[in-house]
Amino acid sequence: DAMKPTKSVYVARLLTESVTRELGSHAGLAFDIGQEAPPARAELLERVADKDAAIVTLTERIDEEFFAAAGPGLKVVANVAVGFDNIDLAAAARHGVTITNTPGVLDGATADHTFALILALGRRIVEADRFIREGNQWVWGPRMFVGLDISAGATLGIIGLGRIGLAVARRARAFDMRVIATDATRPLGSTVEGVEIVSQEELLAASDVVTLHVPLLPSTRHLINRETLAAMKPGAYLVNCARGGIVDEQALIEAIDSGHLRGAAIDTFEGEPQVNPELIARPQVVLTPHTASAGEATRDRMCRLAVDNVLAVLAGREPLTPVQTA
Ligand code: DGY
Repeated sequence: DAMKPTKSVYVARLLTESVTRELGSHAGLAFDIGQEAPPARAELLERVADKDAAIVTLTERIDEEFFAAAGPGLKVVANVAVGFDNIDLAAAARHGVTITNTPGVLDGATADHTFALILALGRRIVEADRFIREGNQWVWGPRMFVGLDISAGATLGIIGLGRIGLAVARRARAFDMRVIATDATRPLGSTVEGVEIVSQEELLAASDVVTLHVPLLPSTRHLINRETLAAMKPGAYLVNCARGGIVDEQALIEAIDSGHLRGAAIDTFEGEPQVNPELIARPQVVLTPHTASAGEATRDRMCRLAVDNVLAVLAGREPLTPVQTA
């Protein structure tokens, strides 16, 4: 409809190439597209002014100030992430703005990355790679780089058996691991696809590897702390592909230094994108820069779902994947 007034959408970060190309085909919509790097706060507030919609990522803090800067025309903010701890939902509700996320489309990629980290930790892949690159002399030996036997009875403890946790569980079961989980929405003692739901205490005590797949909420902040780390099995590993704030990093470093934990793999950090130098200094720690969902097709699906949510809301339809705001 040529008479329809143009609606404007602020896209805070460059989306994937193919999704960016598709943006041109939406008649009646103008996209104001940012750069690859996150916008500075002042730029974010300036460019969202008078927009009808915004597509943002977890690097943008979406709060009262953001909604005030946008003005009353803003209908929807689509987060290009399943997590939405960067968004003040109460403020969104006050301003009548719909919030959407990207559940479901990144489960496989995130579980793949999690499992890659489990294997890398257990089999000491990064340490061994570094060892060779350093030019060390070596010869095969019965004690050389011995690690965890993943598929000979190791137990994986999954904290949060949602979409991603379950995808991790399927991979672990295919490796003949014993898999146990905690999940707030599932009854203790029940079994889901061969995964037993246990208490947190039991999970921490029994797991050779503990992996986190809960959202960051007030109730999960520092869920992994001095006490819960002490309750873990001696020699166990921790994997965090969820959110940095779930782990008290200082307590984790102490647990590694004391030898209580054998190592940790961290994709998400407390002070992201800053990485605690104490973590970097420890060879038992494997680090990736929040890339667990970084599969090519996955990132297209995440970006496309964000765009489709905006298109739906601006056309007066229901969003595909809304976040409950109130
Ligand atoms: C998410 O989706 O919440 C991730 O952290 C980014 O993929």
